[in-house]
Amino acid sequence: MTSVASPIAAVGRAAATRQVVAAATASVSAPAAPSTSAKATEQKPTVIITGASSGLGLNAAAALAKSGEWHVVMACRDFSKAVSAAKRLGFPSGSYTVMHLDLASLDSVRQFVDAFRASGRRIDSLVCNAAVYLPTAKEPRFTADGFEVSVGTNHLGHFLLANLLLQDLEASPAANPRMVIVGSITGNTNTMAGNVPPKADLGDLSGLANGAVMIDGKEFDGAKAYKDSKVCNMLTMREFTRRYAGKSKVQFASLYPGCIAETGLFREHYDAFKTLFPLFQKYVTKGYVSEEEAGKRLAQVVSDPALNKNGVYWSWSNTKGAFENQVSEEVADDGKAVKLWEVSEKLVGLA
Ligand SMILES: NC(=O)c1ccc[n+]([C@@H]2O[C@H](COP(=O)([O-])OP(=O)(O)OC[C@H]3O[C@@H](n4cnc5c(N)ncnc54)[C@H](OP(=O)(O)O)[C@@H]3O)[C@@H](O)[C@H]2O)c1
Repeated sequence: MTSVASPIAAVGRAAATRQVVAAATASVSAPAAPSTSAKATEQKPTVIITGASSGLGLNAAAALAKSGEWHVVMACRDFSKAVSAAKRLGFPSGSYTVMHLDLASLDSVRQFVDAFRASGRRIDSLVCNAAVYLPTAKEPRFTADGFEVSVGTNHLGHFLLANLLLQDLEASPAANPRMVIVGSITGNTNTMAGNVPPKADLGDLSGLANGAVMIDGKEFDGAKAYKDSKVCNMLTMREFTRRYAGKSKVQFASLYPGCIAETGLFREHYDAFKTLFPLFQKYVTKGYVSEEEAGKRLAQVVSDPALNKNGVYWSWSNTKGAFENQVSEEVADDGKAVKLWEVSEKLVGLA
């Protein structure tokens, strides 16, 4: 039977106060499950996917749920949208659970972790996928805790979630549980797409540290805030890898699944953009990938034994399948990763 957990307590809505390697086709398989508690080993491997109500997260959830090998926890802010989406895509009965998570509230993140632990489920993989993108916003919007909403949701909410759930991943019966943080080509300035202005640039992080709207302390720009948040996602994955290499069995990965030009991510863009962008990606750049194929790619990073490697930023080519991609100079900056970690720890109340 499919289980649906109750939404957690209402989320604060207070006004903000501060201004090659792998197989060529994506496949899904279960991780090896040696020992741990009897209860955990009786359960199917479980993956938590944030933002599984739409786009990449939904399609990855579908691939894993339909494989019959995984139980999927859909961690979503819109409970009924997630339930409808799972039904629409034909998730098998009993293969998924919907739980409330609003990454734009640090309280909600903590409540989600408590509720997940209370559910008694094992966790073998965490996918930090949810994101917002506000390319046309003239004014910033804020999370319940007063952070600019793209960085607050895409980075800080996930940073807290990932840190809290690390110990739960450690307790997985799997040999190598995985933490996957979705990145993007747009945050990597070593690519053509990453050089479309405004370019990602965290500067010296003084804006983030001092309560400014943008991480670099400069004027608000919604498109840049999203790209900055993606740099933060990739830096976070790299810093997890550096901190826990040799100390943890958890493996960390990021990825760029391709340009999924028709997802809800572009919901706030101009109508002309929403019409022309998919055509441009299909016929000019040829970087277009369907939601279904992108979902299979993310599911592969969760489950394919051939991708059992630490600290990789995965991308795909039509001929080679998954390969280890290079990141930009900023994303490769280990000093910046440490600084981002230390600032973020303070902002989310972990330090
Ligand atoms: N589309 C692309 O071309 C592309 C390319 C590279 C990387 N990516 C990355 O892929 C990931 C998924 O994006 P997508 O394209 O699939 O977009 P999408 O269809 O809009 O999915 C985003 C998901 O995030 C959820 N979400 C947003 N704010 C949230 C919050 N506060 N709390 C919890 N969930 C929240 C959304 O929930 P609702 O359904 O309630 O809105 C939705 O389920 C993102 O990390 C994005 O950066 C996308």
